[in-house]
Amino acid sequence: MSQAILKKLILPLPLLVLAMPAAFGQDPPSEETIEYFRLNCMSCHTIGGGRLTGPDLKGATERADEAWLVDFILDPKGVIDSGDPYAAQLLRESRGLVMNQTPGMDRTMAEKLVRMIAAESAKERSEFAGLQISDRPLTEADVRMGADLFSGAVAGANGAPSCISCHTVAGLGGLGGGRLGPDLTDAYDRLEGRTALSAWLGSPPSPVMQPIFKDHALEGEEVLALVAYLKDVAESEEVEAPASTLQFLLAGFGGSALLLVLFDFLWRKRYRATRRPLVEKLRRDTAVGTH
Ligand code: HEC
Ligand code: HEC
Repeated sequence: MSQAILKKLILPLPLLVLAMPAAFGQDPPSEETIEYFRLNCMSCHTIGGGRLTGPDLKGATERADEAWLVDFILDPKGVIDSGDPYAAQLLRESRGLVMNQTPGMDRTMAEKLVRMIAAESAKERSEFAGLQISDRPLTEADVRMGADLFSGAVAGANGAPSCISCHTVAGLGGLGGGRLGPDLTDAYDRLEGRTALSAWLGSPPSPVMQPIFKDHALEGEEVLALVAYLKDVAESEEVEAPASTLQFLLAGFGGSALLLVLFDFLWRKRYRATRRPLVEKLRRDTAVGTH
């Protein structure tokens, strides 16, 4: 056989190999699909990392067929309202929370996402398994570390912002924390304890926190420390509530006018120093996110 003919036979081989997975419908998900899932779905779903607000999607394509899943992603409320029994079961398991229709979702993207969920489910460990958080016992050191992360005395390893700029808890002293987010004194109980709160903090499904934390995520040990701290806060509050209420009342009779002036002054200063840059960063991030 001549060299020229050999080359003609061999050259197309790599092309053929590349084309094969596509021919069998198993082409790896595109960067676009992965990024889309990360931004729009991961705050509520892991693949193989347990339930968050929504169900763990590992094996979803075995529980329901792909066409059903595509229809559900396109219009969750529509499928639920149609009286579909599987949708009703999912809704019950999510305690009545209905998945939103994702803005800009179309059939092509829904199909790509379902194929990606199938491919990721087949993996030993999906990149969407989320943060794996240890279940070791919580310690006093965790509580202290959590308090420091909360107040910003220690910075998060990935640059996560301090919580105090937007949240307060009972017993903080001084001026307490920011008011943009809710008081977290009862967060440990409200979010139903260690597992759920850990998952929540690993990927906060909050429209305000998510854009900030997606590039500055808390690490597993930091999540544990914050959980330990919030648990401690919730438990101390149950014991100390009467005393601090009394103090509060006494302070109220004493210098309330003076305090008001002082608070106003300090708060304005503080807004300039910490809240404003954060809020501006948030605006920038959200603006980028919507493109
Ligand atoms: C705000 C939280 C939230 C977001 C964001 C979200 N989902 Fe859901 N998802 C849910 C909930 C809750 C359910 C369970 C059904 C219900 O209660 O509506 C669900 C159910 C599903 C199901 C069916 C699960 C099963 O086990 O059969 C699929 C598939 C799904 N979601 C895919 C997605 C995809 C893809 C995205 C991103 C485009 C997404 N979801 C974004 C909350 C969410
Ligand atoms: C830029 C402001 C901001 C920062 C910084 C921030 N949060 Fe939040 N957080 C919010 C807002 C706002 C909410 C309410 C949900 C929403 O509207 O997005 C919230 C909600 C929460 C909740 C849920 C409370 C509930 O009862 O549902 C928890 C828990 C929480 N934050 C913990 C933290 C922790 C821990 C930190 C620090 C690592 C932190 N947050 C930093 C703004 C912030």
